[in-house]
Amino acid sequence: MPQKGSPSLKVLLRHSAIQRRIRQMGAQISRDFRDEQIHLIGVLKGASIFLADLVRQIRVEVSLDFMAVASYGKGSQSSGQVRLTKDLDTSIEGLNVILVEDILDTGLTLSYLYRVLQQRKPKTLRIAALLDKPERRIKEVKADYVGFQIPNEFVVGYGLDYAERYRNLKDVCVLSLSPE
Ligand code: IMP
Repeated sequence: MPQKGSPSLKVLLRHSAIQRRIRQMGAQISRDFRDEQIHLIGVLKGASIFLADLVRQIRVEVSLDFMAVASYGKGSQSSGQVRLTKDLDTSIEGLNVILVEDILDTGLTLSYLYRVLQQRKPKTLRIAALLDKPERRIKEVKADYVGFQIPNEFVVGYGLDYAERYRNLKDVCVLSLSPE
């Protein structure tokens, strides 16, 4: 996590590169589920922008739902205890589900959500994450579709926030807060 101080933003992934990669991910998903329907589940709020772009690159029939989670623990350091603050609107039994997340960091959130969804008997369950910070992994989680692997830096923009700020940036940027 960034320390308190004056913020500086450095572009890590430009909007154009993100869009290019999402087109490829959409094409891959469309190939994998040719002649099938898929149900995308976005994890609020960070994945909302990624999901909005991804869904428009998918060429098979798609339905959408959303979940929201909160993690217990100090500040933004995940404690590993995750709880649902918004559940799905409808059953996923028998559906091809893709869980869509902004970033795979320690893996605690996605491993929890994967377990919860698996218990609901989907036909298939896959994970799509725009970003992956493999160095930070605590829980083994395998994402089936990954946009970019990134170094162990705190990033904001394109849906990702720091204290609810910066979600509206078009690029993904590294945020550093230098001490004042
Ligand atoms: P995990 O449970 O540690 O994998 O964390 C996943 C969640 O932590 C993400 O959905 C984000 O909300 C948040 N997160 C992890 N790394 C970052 C980051 O670099 N910037 C903004 N949010 C992050």
